[in-house]
This record gives sequence, structure tokens and C-alpha cells, in this order.
Amino acid sequence: ELKDNTIIVVLGASGDLAKKKTLPALFGLYRQGFLPRDVKIVGYARTKMDRDEFHKRATSYIKNPDNDPEISTSIDEFKALSTYVSGSYEDGAAFDNLNKHLGEIESEYQSKERNRIFYFALPPSVFVPVAKNLKEHCYIAKGGINRVIVEKPFGKDLESARELLGSLKQYWTEDETFRIDHYLGKEMVKNLLVLRFANVAMGAAWDKNSISNVQITFKEPFGTEGRGGYFDEFGIIRDVLQNHLLQVLSILTMERPVSFSAEDILLRCIPPIEQSDTLLGQYVAANGKPGYLDDETVPPQSVCPTYAATTLWIHNPRWEGVPFVLKAGKALNEAKVEVRIQFKDVTQGIFKDIARNELVIRIQPSEAVYLKLNAKTPGLYTRAIPTEMDLTYKRRFTESKIPEAYEALILDALKGDHSNFVRHDELDVAWKIFTPILHWIDGLNGPRPRPVAYPYGSRGPKELEAFINKYGYKRSGEAYAWPVTNLA
Ligand code: BG6
Repeated sequence: ELKDNTIIVVLGASGDLAKKKTLPALFGLYRQGFLPRDVKIVGYARTKMDRDEFHKRATSYIKNPDNDPEISTSIDEFKALSTYVSGSYEDGAAFDNLNKHLGEIESEYQSKERNRIFYFALPPSVFVPVAKNLKEHCYIAKGGINRVIVEKPFGKDLESARELLGSLKQYWTEDETFRIDHYLGKEMVKNLLVLRFANVAMGAAWDKNSISNVQITFKEPFGTEGRGGYFDEFGIIRDVLQNHLLQVLSILTMERPVSFSAEDILLRCIPPIEQSDTLLGQYVAANGKPGYLDDETVPPQSVCPTYAATTLWIHNPRWEGVPFVLKAGKALNEAKVEVRIQFKDVTQGIFKDIARNELVIRIQPSEAVYLKLNAKTPGLYTRAIPTEMDLTYKRRFTESKIPEAYEALILDALKGDHSNFVRHDELDVAWKIFTPILHWIDGLNGPRPRPVAYPYGSRGPKELEAFINKYGYKRSGEAYAWPVTNLA
């Protein structure tokens, strides 16, 4: 269903997102033969530069460490199909100029069909003028499709998000709009649907009767480092929890859809998060690494959280009473994103103090699914020992390359498949869940809460342990290690 005669216009082509994610993903798709035949890429931004300079930037994040001649050839081809136009975001005439350039490319086409995909790698302050100008100056009224791909931040709270989305809607229909949450493009996030709905054994245990609590965890080993100016305005909840982790939660807990593109309204069953279900942290200098407040782009005395744990509750028959703890932090001890489902205690009696089952889906790095399982200790006595059933992707799928999230999503958008994008109404509900605590954190209805301090490179605030225990999480003892070597 890829359309011939497609031009992909990357707006904000001189910026970081385009350089690091969008253009490398387009290259990845091109190289693997997933872009439409005769595709052309056009960069657009304010920066004045010539085509060579654009090519240099556009390919600066494409890896070819061993100088593989095949990759070099692909890079050259990719450059040959990419051009650049500079111009303002506000000025209609500049978009007439862009339209002229697009028209010139299209005049070479054999057929009349023309398709334009506009990728917004832009700061939110220019979303609306660009959406307007594209619609008024670069829109194909007949004989082709137009699509826009946009990405967070979509506002800062319910009201501002509604305003922004409402403005965009004046120009672009829901059908033409693809709102990226790049977590929805991650292989293991997509895998959640298959694990749940393609396995009777999993599906049967997927509810409040079997599950005690769920943790969705995002950890990054670096701080804001120079990006603090941007970050401070948003904080970790808007940066990671309200979008990426909430999307993971939504897929993890949704009812079985009739198809992969079915509508999902699970988030409507989640009430706004309570202050008492929230733990906020901010990293401080440790081990020679700077604290958040040492970042020169951060306002002095900022109380912006760089760590947050929040617990969400889903009021529906499947999940009533199960706590879902969403945790995210910068400057922690490791890079890891995982979903950890802890099952309830087994009936006591023949067993005492036996470890709980846990199903862990590691989204990154090193994709894996593993189940903590009790087994009989081998030998002439009956004792249970915690072990693991381990599906590590690198070991099991040795030949497969896991696609980049942006590759998967751009391909979906090119095909017109909305199933892995964020719907307008879904975003609205996501903001409803988080807006009250965000307003509390922003000090809109009283003094701003002070985040607790945690050292750079640590596991997070020391208050975390008590926080998750409050929701019934039971840490199991040392024996929970794999492989178990000490079999008497
Ligand atoms: C982005 C956040 O949306 O996601 C960043 O703005 C964060 O702060 C990034 O680092 C994480 O994405 P990934 O794909 O590296 O897990």
C-alpha cells in the first residue's frame, strides 16, 4: 500500500530530532527497500545552507563504522534523492517557495498522482503556523494524499493540549494526522499484544485474580546535560510518564480488540492521579557527576522533578484494586525500560514463604521476556526453588534485526495505518489523568512540592522502596538469581 510519487518533507530538518532520529530512520527504511519507489526527501528549516551541507548533517548520525561499500553506496543514493529548502515557518511566501520546489520534483513523474508526507521535527511554538501554511500553500487538493506526522509535546496540560490540537484540527483531519509516541513503535511494546492475545496461558492470568501489582519502569543513566532549559519547563512526568509509560500501560491492560486497529478506551477507566500516590525526586551531584541544579541551563532553585513514581488505578472489572506503578528517572544507575508483573502469593500450606511469580518484559536494552517460576530443587527431597524461563531475543532470534521505533512508525504513516499512533481523544484522556498532579507540581494551587534528593548514578530516591511496598510489591530474597549454582 505504499504510494508511488511520494515526497517526504522533513520540517525542522536542521534540528536535533531530524538529525538523530527522523533522517536516519528514513535512511534505514530506504536501505531496506521499504520506501516507495521514486521517493524524494525534502528538508525544510530556517537555517540557510546548501545541499552539500544539508547532506552532511542529514547523514551525520548514519553509522557505517567498517566503511561497508554497500552502505556507502546507499548513503550516496540517499543523498541523491534528498534536497533542501530554507525558509521561515511563519511566512506564507516561504511556503509558496517550498511548494514550487515540490512541484518541480513532481513535474518529472510519469503519472499525475502526487503524495506528500510532512514530518514535523519542530518546536511546539511553530506547530500551528506550519500546519496552517502547509495547508494553505502546499496542500494537494486533488490526485493524491497529504499527511502530517507530529510529535510531543502536545501542550502542557489538558487545556493547552486541547487548544493546540484544536488549532491543528482546523487544518488537518484526524485521518491525515499521525501523532507519534515513539514507544508505540518499539518492538517489545508491539509484542505485548501478541504475548497477551496469542497465548491462552498468559491471557488466563491477566487480571486482578492473579496479578498483585505491576511496575512500568524507565531508567536513564544520564542527566539533562545541557538540555535542562527544555526539560525544566516540562519535567519527567510530561517527558516520559504521561506519554510513553501511559501508552505501555494502555496496551498492557486493554481488552482484546477485534483487530489491531480497533479503538481503545481503557484510559477512560483511570481517575486522575492522587498526590498521595506520587513520589518526586531530583538528582544531586555525586561521584564527580553534576546535580540537576548544576546544569547551567536550569533555573537556580528549580524544584522540577527528574524522577517520579506514580500509581494509577483502573476501575474496571478486570483490574479493580491492582496498583500500576509508573516510574521514570534521569541520572540513575542504569539504562533500562521494563514492565514487571508480580503475581499474587500462591496458596500457603504445602509451601511457605515461597517466591512470587513475576513476568518481566524488558523493552530495552537487550529485549527479553522472562518468567520467574518456582521449580522443585533437583534431588531426593522436595523443596521449591525460584528459577527463570528466559526468552532473550538475541539468543532466540539470532538472525533478526530489531527495527528502530521511528522506522516502524514512519513506515506505518506511509502506509496510512493509524493503529500505532496516538488518537486525539486518547491524548485528551491522558492529560485528564495527569493534569491535577502537574498543576500541583507547578504550584498552581499552593506551594510547589519539593522533590526528594537522590544521588546521580543511584537507583533513585531511597524513599522508593517504601513507596512500592505500600502497593504490595514483595521483593524476593537472594535466591532469586539465575543461574542457580548452589544445588546441594
Ligand atoms: C523522549 C524524551 O521522548 O524519550 C527523552 O524526551 C528520553 O527525555 C527519550 O530520553 C527516551 O527514548 P528512548 O527511545 O531512548 O527510550
